[in-house]
Amino acid sequence: MLIRKAPDIRPSEITDEHCYMNRREFLQLAGFTAAGTMAGSLAAAEPSGKPFPKLAKSPFSTDDPANSYEDVTTYNNFYEFGTGKGDPHRYSQDFAPRPWKVTVSGECERPGEFGYEDIVGPHALEERIYRLRCVEAWSMVIPWVGFPLADLIKRFEPNSRAKFVKFKTLYDPAQMPGQRRAVLDWPYVEGLTIAEANHPLTLLTVGLYGRELPNQNGAPLRLVVPWKYGFKSIKSVVSIEFTEQRPRNSWELAAPSEYGFYANVNPQVDHPRWSQARERRIGGGLFDAKQPTLMFNGYAEQVAHLYDGLDLRRNF
Ligand code: MTE
Repeated sequence: MLIRKAPDIRPSEITDEHCYMNRREFLQLAGFTAAGTMAGSLAAAEPSGKPFPKLAKSPFSTDDPANSYEDVTTYNNFYEFGTGKGDPHRYSQDFAPRPWKVTVSGECERPGEFGYEDIVGPHALEERIYRLRCVEAWSMVIPWVGFPLADLIKRFEPNSRAKFVKFKTLYDPAQMPGQRRAVLDWPYVEGLTIAEANHPLTLLTVGLYGRELPNQNGAPLRLVVPWKYGFKSIKSVVSIEFTEQRPRNSWELAAPSEYGFYANVNPQVDHPRWSQARERRIGGGLFDAKQPTLMFNGYAEQVAHLYDGLDLRRNF
């Protein structure tokens, strides 16, 4: 990737790069994932997080076969550690996700804060296998570990003015080298309607593959909203705020004509510069390269009612 001074980089240039295939993917697509190429990268992708003892299986899981641990932890978007797909794995290894505090504020009766340990002990954790469908038209299938965000939200008793929930990622340029460049307006911000946040599919995620989250996947806690494009699944969350006004997310601020607030996976509404009708499964190999994208990423039955009466073309 060509690194230039941040003010010279336009968001549209960054998202163009999204679509480029990196060298590793190219080798995979060309069928070169044989022993020689894999050996080094497998060693680098050895699972290291603490395993969770008991995990219930979720009925919401997809039947698609999961991507390898290596795919899931070495092909990432986490701009706080760089804009290349391998950067988060490469540059997040010294990141310290403990101790960790999340503040909860805004339109609620019991604002406060909680730590990672305050939520991992008391909540029953599940394994949920969800596709992560990126707006860049690729996808992965990931066995996440977490519990419904709704279970956390109710502890803070949002009031009737709480129409939206705004989330922020940690801002710490000393630990997050990508934040030293104004590629996005830091800290990374995301938002959901209160109904989306309380939907049983919305997962407060603390792990994957049965273990604590690796840094590059958003340690120690992140969201996974499976019917929305991957960028809604904000990583390394430090702030949750209940708001009356709709928050503007980082990507919407960077390129409002390309990224909206809703970002529902929708094969009928293309990104202005590329189609959303199909997706490439990472690690899928040469002959399995593209498959149709499903409305709401396959969860239409569960979530379509949230958007009754809303023009999804205008509210993209
Ligand atoms: N969260 C933060 N804080 N910063 C980011 O750059 N990238 C988003 C999302 N969450 C991002 C983020 C995007 S574009 C995607 S596709 C997913 O994280 C990728 O999640 P994964 O790397 O665990 O697959």
